[in-house]
Amino acid sequence: MGFYSRHVAPRIVDTACSPSSLGRWRSRCVEGLSGTVIEIGFGGGRNLPYYPTDVKEIWAVEPSPVMRRRSAARREASPCEIRWVGLDGQDLDLDDDTVDHAVVTFSLCTIPDPARALRELRRVVRPGGELRVLEHGLAPDPAVQSWQHRCEPFEKVIADGCHLTRDPQQLVADNGWNITSVFQRYTPGPKPWTFFTSLRAL
Ligand SMILES: C[S@@+](CC[C@H](N)C(=O)[O-])C[C@H]1O[C@@H](n2cnc3c(N)ncnc32)[C@H](O)[C@@H]1O
Repeated sequence: MGFYSRHVAPRIVDTACSPSSLGRWRSRCVEGLSGTVIEIGFGGGRNLPYYPTDVKEIWAVEPSPVMRRRSAARREASPCEIRWVGLDGQDLDLDDDTVDHAVVTFSLCTIPDPARALRELRRVVRPGGELRVLEHGLAPDPAVQSWQHRCEPFEKVIADGCHLTRDPQQLVADNGWNITSVFQRYTPGPKPWTFFTSLRAL
């Protein structure tokens, strides 16, 4: 891994994930959760301020040391206990059926094999536990889609593997989960980056 990927990209990506305008989306994503939650692609811990108080423990999976460091202040401020449980959401060193719920935000776009990560989450989440996903992805409009295809090669370099044309709803439905609700819309900003999906699955 080069200097850019190790040191520069995580700072750019974490800053892109920081706007307070994302707060409503993050809050909707985690509302109603309780117990122990695994979050893969934990990043700078940007969801922490939004977790309900019923969430007692978060198992965080994050490969980037820069991201882990950048999450320090939010971890300290959180009433939840945060445990680092791995570096790769595609390969979790956890037993089957060990965690209550799972959260993934803006990371199915970046994890190299998101299908594998979703199947890993299905394996470790207890039966009846929920998956919550918040993601940008493939827009419904052909004109926006064509811009997404054009921009994706640059996005992957600048944002360290981030894809613009993945379809989070399809990925979740195809990899072991039954979707129970989906909310999708454009948020303010350039359309290739701002078609958001917030979904829940069992
Ligand atoms: C765009 S950031 C999102 C961070 C955070 N979830 C948020 O909402 O602000 C994507 C994150 O996925 C992480 N990531 C990349 N590959 C991963 C993998 N194989 N397993 C887990 N996380 C990964 C990156 O290091 C990065 O922190």
